[in-house]
Amino acid sequence: MIKKAVIPAAGYGTRSLPVTKSVPKEMFPVGNKPAIQLIVEEAVAAGIEEILIVLSRQKNMIVDYFDRSLELETFLDHANKRDLLPKVEPPNVTIQYIRQPYAKGLGDAVLLAKQFAGNEPFAILLPDDIILNQTQPGIAQLINNFEQKKGSVVGLLEVEQQYLHKYGVIDGEKIDEQVYRIKDMVEKPKHNPPSNKAVIGRYVFDPSIFSYLGKVKPGAGNEIQLTDAVKAMLHDYPCYGTLIDGKRYDIGSHAEYLQLNNELFDEK
Ligand code: G1P
Repeated sequence: MIKKAVIPAAGYGTRSLPVTKSVPKEMFPVGNKPAIQLIVEEAVAAGIEEILIVLSRQKNMIVDYFDRSLELETFLDHANKRDLLPKVEPPNVTIQYIRQPYAKGLGDAVLLAKQFAGNEPFAILLPDDIILNQTQPGIAQLINNFEQKKGSVVGLLEVEQQYLHKYGVIDGEKIDEQVYRIKDMVEKPKHNPPSNKAVIGRYVFDPSIFSYLGKVKPGAGNEIQLTDAVKAMLHDYPCYGTLIDGKRYDIGSHAEYLQLNNELFDEK
């Protein structure tokens, strides 16, 4: 069973400036919850018990949000608004934090989770990617696959040609209804993407990923890329891609962020 998850939340959120000068994009409201709460809820629903959030400076709002607020709890209690108390309780999961001192990329942020993971497999959830699914949380779909295939798994989405340059893209062989065995991977391909299957922000890895992360050189955007570490790992270990069943919204895209809020509003 996978019990640990890492949430990298150290990026600058440049696509959403200027608000991200002081409000982390992980705290953008989705309905009446911050986006990162939906990510934590997805992880908890998939059986995760311990979470490590990788932060940078300016992200203390996230730490405060997941802590208890004693003044607020006391106020609600005294003001006869006890029915609201469950809304302000921290989630039922252990959350730890680590800071990424230099913005060296997603791969570098994940490498900071080496001690946290120890020798256990672990999940990664990128908080930009909100996945709505009625039946099974996105990360739970990957965990199932990891357990069946005994190999690392990345989440996939079919993306139109003109947008593939924004993603990690796989070259893979279809081995099951939703599952591909990955043969190659390219981060943000400028030309000739190897397929229309893009990586979305859900992964389950064996701890062997850390030795590859420790060796990869800066890649796309001059950053240490997780995709490059997975690509290096493919020589030694099988790795799979699962097409995630669900609707995915990138909250760094203003249009998708608005669509997501509309979608949740419609459901009420
Ligand atoms: C990251 C990954 C990329 C993946 C994407 C999904 O890129 O590096 O492989 O396709 O997340 O959201 P970023 O969006 O951080 O540039």
